[in-house]
Amino acid sequence: MTRPIPRGEVAPSLLACNFSRLAEQVSLVMDAGAKVLHFDSMDGNFVPPITIGPLVAASIAELIHDRGGLLDCHLMVDRPEHQVEAFAQAGADIITVHPEATPHIHYTLQKIREHGCHAGVVVNPGTPVEAVEPVAEIVDLCLVMSVNPGWGGQRYIESSTGRLARAKALLPPEVVLEVDGGITLANIELARDAGTDVFVAGSSVFGAADPGEAFRALQARVG
Ligand code: DX5
Ligand code: ZN
Repeated sequence: MTRPIPRGEVAPSLLACNFSRLAEQVSLVMDAGAKVLHFDSMDGNFVPPITIGPLVAASIAELIHDRGGLLDCHLMVDRPEHQVEAFAQAGADIITVHPEATPHIHYTLQKIREHGCHAGVVVNPGTPVEAVEPVAEIVDLCLVMSVNPGWGGQRYIESSTGRLARAKALLPPEVVLEVDGGITLANIELARDAGTDVFVAGSSVFGAADPGEAFRALQARVG
C-alpha cells in the first residue's frame, strides 16, 4: 500500500507545466516542498482534449516517490475502469474517477483499492455533490471540480465553495477533500475554510515566472 494522503497540501498540476522539460519541472516543485503531484489524463471523449496517460505517469513516478511524494492521477476518461490497472502499474498512488464517466462507479473504486491505490471520486460542477454518498464508505478521497474539466487556466466557479462545504459535511472525516480548478492566492483560503485538504493548482504554479516560489506562496496559506 502507498503512503497516506497528506492534508493541507497544494498539489501542483502538471497540465500547466513545460512538457519539453517534464522531469525538471517535477523536480522543481518537489524541491519547493510539494508532497502531491496532480496528473491530468484526458481521452478526447469524456472531455475534448487529449493529454497524457500511463506511459508518461510511469516516466515520472520514481522521481516523485524517491522524494516522498504521491502521484495523484485524475482520470478524465470514459470507462475509467479499463485504465485502472495501467495507471496502478505506472506507479499511481491516488486514482480519481468520475461517476459521469461510467455506469460502474462503485466497481471502479473497488478496483482501484484492489490495485493498492487510494480511490478518489470526482464530481463535475453540474453533478450534485450528493452523488458521492453511495460510495462514501469505499473512497479515500473526494475531488470537487471548481471548473469544468478539460482545460487549465479557467476561473474558479464561486458556488464551488458551498459545494466543498457540503461534500465535507456528508463524507466520513477520514475521506480527504480535494479541490481542482482556478485555485489562486485570491481564493485558496475560501476553499481551505470550507474544509478542503488538498488544493490542485496548475496555472497559478507553472504559469508563474518562478513555479517553486508560486507553490510556496500558495502552500503558506494552507499548510
Ligand atoms: C482541469 C484539470 C485541472 C487543471 C487545473 O480539467 O483537472 O487539474 O490542471 O488547472 P488550473 O489550476 O489552471 O485551473
Ligand atoms: Zn485535475
